[in-house]
Amino acid sequence: WPQVEAFQARPDDLVIATYPKSGTTWLSEILDMIYHDGDVEKCRRDAIFNRVPFLEMKAPELPSGVEQLEKTPSPRLVKTHLPVHLLPTSFQDKNCKVIYMARNPKDVVISYYYFYQMAKMHPDPGTLAEFLETFMAGKVAYGSWYDHVRGWWEKKQEKQLLYLFYEDMKKDPRREVQNILQFLGKDVAEGTVERILHHTSFQEMKKNPAANYETMPTALMDHSLSPFLRKGISGDWKNHFTVAQNERFDQHYQEHMAGSDLCFQME
Ligand code: A3P
Repeated sequence: WPQVEAFQARPDDLVIATYPKSGTTWLSEILDMIYHDGDVEKCRRDAIFNRVPFLEMKAPELPSGVEQLEKTPSPRLVKTHLPVHLLPTSFQDKNCKVIYMARNPKDVVISYYYFYQMAKMHPDPGTLAEFLETFMAGKVAYGSWYDHVRGWWEKKQEKQLLYLFYEDMKKDPRREVQNILQFLGKDVAEGTVERILHHTSFQEMKKNPAANYETMPTALMDHSLSPFLRKGISGDWKNHFTVAQNERFDQHYQEHMAGSDLCFQME
């Protein structure tokens, strides 16, 4: 942690911040494509977890996120799942831009449930019923989803922060990519946008070894249990929640989102 806390940002760093399972990899691939003017070959140069290092990652026998970032030439894309209050202060000192992407919690919890099974750094999630309770109690990696999305939302007034939603990206990726380009102050040819949209579609990313995490050692991620790019849709929770679980979740959601103008599309 001291290494992360003392991280030295550079003014042209761009932070990609999310709660896990909210479309981090998708947004990362889009940004790497934007940074390389839609050059697909350049975006195949390495796995996404090396192209966009994960700030607070520390796994045995692999370089830490901080070590990777120190070796990455500028301009860097920096992935983090940290809640806003834990983001190293250097990012603010250097006035770095941040893009946050949020996803509705029902799809997040389902995606997280499968991810807990395949990504071996997590404990056994138990049954889905058990995991729903663990998630609602905030006893999962990165803690309470509510605190995370609300904490970052409160920062959105700052013009260096763009707050996006997975559901909007699904509905109209072209508009969201334009939104990102505007935020970054970048202008690209129409054909480039076309290439970005094609290359970052779920189908393309799923078969791209540089984007689908297949090259991660099986000891860390076992895709035979569940692929990293699993379904890539909004509303999959409907295939998993019972009516009673949905009612309980809605009740909990209402209590924990009370007083906030942050709204989610549940499908
Ligand atoms: P599902 O498990 O619901 O399929 P993260 O990158 O933050 O870990 O998020 C992973 C989730 O984003 C997974 O959700 C994954 O399938 C989805 N995802 C990744 N790339 C995507 C894309 N191009 N389009 C839509 N969803 C995508």
